[in-house]
Amino acid sequence: MALPVDRGEELDLEQIEIELLLEGIHRRYGYDFRDYAPASLRRRVRRRMDGEKVETISALQNLLLHDPAVMERLLLDLSVNVTAMFRDPSFFLAFREKVVAALRTYPFSRLWVAGCSTGEEVYSLAILLAEEGLGDRVRIYATDINQAVVDRARLGVFPLDKMQEYTQNYIRAGGKRSFSEYYVARYDGAKFARELVDGVVFAQHNLVSDAAFNEFNAITCRNVMIYFAPPLQERVHRLFYESLAMFGVLALGQKETVRFSPFDRAYEDLDAEERLYRKIR
Ligand SMILES: C[S@@+](CC[C@H](N)C(=O)[O-])C[C@H]1O[C@@H](n2cnc3c(N)ncnc32)[C@H](O)[C@@H]1O
Repeated sequence: MALPVDRGEELDLEQIEIELLLEGIHRRYGYDFRDYAPASLRRRVRRRMDGEKVETISALQNLLLHDPAVMERLLLDLSVNVTAMFRDPSFFLAFREKVVAALRTYPFSRLWVAGCSTGEEVYSLAILLAEEGLGDRVRIYATDINQAVVDRARLGVFPLDKMQEYTQNYIRAGGKRSFSEYYVARYDGAKFARELVDGVVFAQHNLVSDAAFNEFNAITCRNVMIYFAPPLQERVHRLFYESLAMFGVLALGQKETVRFSPFDRAYEDLDAEERLYRKIR
């Protein structure tokens, strides 16, 4: 006799399948998405099911375990790489004013851009630091879980049709020159000046499973932790806390906060609105 399946049971079943899928990915490929925020995870898994033309998560799991190319595609879906140059210009304005002032006090300092996606944020910060005369004094480390986007970040070629929007962002972010001085238009996009990122270290790094790898005077991580469930957010806060030098700055942007995390008391506000924090203990 066929047992009736109601909507609630379907969702429960989907939950079981997702958990098994994530467990399988972790064991087979080492990527740990088990503590990512469930709603966004579900949407992206469904999108990959459509892409692979399979009806169930279990069928996707079967494909995925046997074919690393499917894993690569799911990784692209899961890692949500949406980004822009001088995204949220007010953040860069505050960074220019407050974080730059802090970095100026060191003869040499290190800035970690965690979850750098295709590099738009890295080039924005490199431009800002160059304009503030710190280009040679701040070493940027740009990392992301996804090797494909890190490779693209290194190239520094961004869509030409975005340049108008980015120019507006740049101006609102307190840009001091003409934005078009920084790139040349080519058939495949706007190629940004190589010198901007000569000193940048681009590397794959997984915030979920990799350890601290240096001591930083500033860390920026924007629009990344929103995809993580609270236990994972806590892990990443610990990683940042351990990676920051005393009086180092944690720059999270308007969507994320260190408040309500166990590290709340370790930081004072440098800019409450733009969520710039200074490590004080
Ligand atoms: C929406 S983008 C944000 C890019 C940029 N920070 C910005 O604000 O425009 C999120 C990035 O986080 C990366 N990411 C997701 N999970 C990660 C993890 N566990 N470790 C490192 N990066 C991760 C994704 O690959 C993606 O490139």
